[in-house]
Amino acid sequence: MSEINLEKAVGWQDTDLPVSWLKRDLLLYAIGIGAKATDQTIVNELDKDWAPFPTYPVVLHFKGEDQEINDFKTRVGRSNAPGLPQFDPNRGVHGSQSIEVVKPIPEVSGPGWKLKRRIVGVSENKSGIVLEHEALLVDPHGTVYAKLYSASFNLGAKATGQKFSKRIAGPPPAKAIPKDRKPDHVVRDKTSPEQALVYRLSGDYNGLHIDPTIGQATGFGGVILHGLSTFGFGARAVLAAVGGNRPEALKYFGVRFSSPVKPGDALETAIWEVGPGPRGTTEVAFVTTDLDSGKVCLAAGVAYVDKAAKSRL
Ligand SMILES: *[C@@H]1O[C@H](CO)[C@@H](O)[C@H](O)[C@H]1NC(C)=O
Repeated sequence: MSEINLEKAVGWQDTDLPVSWLKRDLLLYAIGIGAKATDQTIVNELDKDWAPFPTYPVVLHFKGEDQEINDFKTRVGRSNAPGLPQFDPNRGVHGSQSIEVVKPIPEVSGPGWKLKRRIVGVSENKSGIVLEHEALLVDPHGTVYAKLYSASFNLGAKATGQKFSKRIAGPPPAKAIPKDRKPDHVVRDKTSPEQALVYRLSGDYNGLHIDPTIGQATGFGGVILHGLSTFGFGARAVLAAVGGNRPEALKYFGVRFSSPVKPGDALETAIWEVGPGPRGTTEVAFVTTDLDSGKVCLAAGVAYVDKAAKSRL
């Protein structure tokens, strides 16, 4: 193992990950994030306004090119980045996730698509080490379709024990939720008891999401829903409220994961339109609360929505 030096990990480029998807993968993802029979533009590929749901690329890091299920253990904690200490895969927490839709993805990828991945931030504090990753989804010609950032918090990990923080790229910061007015939209939804069973079929087969004994042993009290499924519920809420439920309208979506959701829990997303965003979009601030736990599960929500996409009928 190489010498521990967090500085060395920042900017490290991982090997490219080949990825692919079919139209069926997009439809399966849509119900994994709770789309309903009434969401025809999301679940029905025969609907004239159907399009791939814009947050789909977030599953590709685990899915890769697989159609068959994969072995989750081979998909996590295997970073060859220099300078990092060993991380305990059971103490890694998905801290945040964002996706910028640069171009709408095609309905079927075909061969030659990749995620180009690098570490763009490392920070250490008393409780552990945060790694920030960037992943660019590119087609066979190298054209970028989506730009993803995620942060994972490795509880208990230790390099020097000193405070360290370096970051060379990252998502746009969240705007504060307006304190002086009620949300412009409130969207209620409910996850199903089988939500994690459906979501995992998009590529994240971590046993924590199906075997209640794992969640009991790790202090979650049973099965918890994939953070990225809740992420998709949030994206659907914002799209329905601000983007006319037209998949092309969502141009950026990012959150911080602040508490776990259990399959079957009800969710409430409060949405504020806070002003103009980049390229003619409307910037949205939002927060999603798990009504069963009473806790915020998606914090610091930011989205850019192209409302004009809604009237292009
Ligand atoms: C360390 O960073 C993590 C992730 O940002 C945060 O949740 C935690 O509270 C921090 N701990 C301390 C002791 O500052």
